[in-house]
Amino acid sequence: MFAVPENTVALPASSAVVHPVRVALSFAADRDRWKHLLRYYPEERFSALVERSDDQEIWLMSWLPGQTASLHDHAGTTGAFTVVSGTLTEVVTTRVQVVHQLVAGQSRVWGPGYVHQVRNDGVDPAVSVHVYRHGTRAMTPYRYDPVNGPVR
Ligand SMILES: [Fe+2]
Repeated sequence: MFAVPENTVALPASSAVVHPVRVALSFAADRDRWKHLLRYYPEERFSALVERSDDQEIWLMSWLPGQTASLHDHAGTTGAFTVVSGTLTEVVTTRVQVVHQLVAGQSRVWGPGYVHQVRNDGVDPAVSVHVYRHGTRAMTPYRYDPVNGPVR
């Protein structure tokens, strides 16, 4: 227990003060908010906007086995994604590439300058929820150069 000083300024009520992983986990657990949007596209990864506010966008994505989001950044946005079902592989790229295997309930965060690829290497479809802050779902494509790292 501690005392709050009288001159403490309360932050305005805003979803932006809630960590994006908490937002992604909350949406992932609340299937009634997005289950009517869910589709699987054989040709490409499916994505649908679930909710947009002044602070953030929430997107739903589905990944059939083999579907990929090629190497990219998210411009100036920060955010997070959570795997709802299935498994996803994230390859974070700097001068080296680090692979993360993600199962349902696991999350990753990003910020400006974060370059990654996400793909479904599994044998089952995967579903994920993504939270974007400080901008929209813009993606800048990159290619990986083993000497220089990610190159636009
Ligand atoms: Fe991404």
